[in-house]
Amino acid sequence: MGKDVIIACDFSSAEQTLAFLDRFTGRKPFVKIGMELYYAAGPEIVREIKARGHKIFLDLKLHDIPNTVKKAMAVLSRLDVDICNLHAAGTAEMMRAALEGLTRPDGTRPLLIAVTQLTSTNQEALEQELLIDRPIDEVVMSYAQNAKNAGLDGVVCSPLEAEKVHRLCGEAFLTVTPGVRFADGDKGDQKRVMTPAQAKAIGSDYIVVGRPITAAADPVAAYQRCCDEFIG
Ligand code: C5P
Repeated sequence: MGKDVIIACDFSSAEQTLAFLDRFTGRKPFVKIGMELYYAAGPEIVREIKARGHKIFLDLKLHDIPNTVKKAMAVLSRLDVDICNLHAAGTAEMMRAALEGLTRPDGTRPLLIAVTQLTSTNQEALEQELLIDRPIDEVVMSYAQNAKNAGLDGVVCSPLEAEKVHRLCGEAFLTVTPGVRFADGDKGDQKRVMTPAQAKAIGSDYIVVGRPITAAADPVAAYQRCCDEFIG
């Protein structure tokens, strides 16, 4: 897989999602299915979108005891998605178990990436609630290194962290980055953002773009603009 734009399909029903995807009559975009849509529409929506020819990043952020995550990942691998994820906070043992579960009998498996620290967690919450007394940046890099050591393929991170992750974990370690906005666009609730062109310049492997495409007057044109800026 190369550089690509992943559309975050943050819809609450299968009907809405399929109506949105119907607009893309040319190139089939890579699609991210998150908890909202998966919990509303179940594995059937994954099968349907896959059958329509899209690649899928199933963003369910698993975090449980290793055995449970292993078994859940085995189920997800049968859905034939392209990327799955989990929380690096579940420990290296959990990440290794996830990889085992994800690997099909023929040795193939979806890519597995880790969430380091959620971008909604700030330094204060880290110290006061999670009792982690280190700079958040250091925690993110340490979790990325743990994910790499456990054999994972990459991390979800802010575009601002992508360069540092690549320096620490190598260029082949994937950085999948949300928080992308057009230079002339609305930031919404995202605080630390980059344009697709900037994300390309700092070496993001995949950008995850939601509202700048899903809420655009012309989503197909907005998607094309992202691809032009990011892939070239
Ligand atoms: O609409 P927007 O472009 O902000 O959507 C970004 C997508 O990436 C959403 O699905 C959001 O949940 C996800 N995401 C994020 N920040 C993270 C992890 C995931 O925005 N740190």
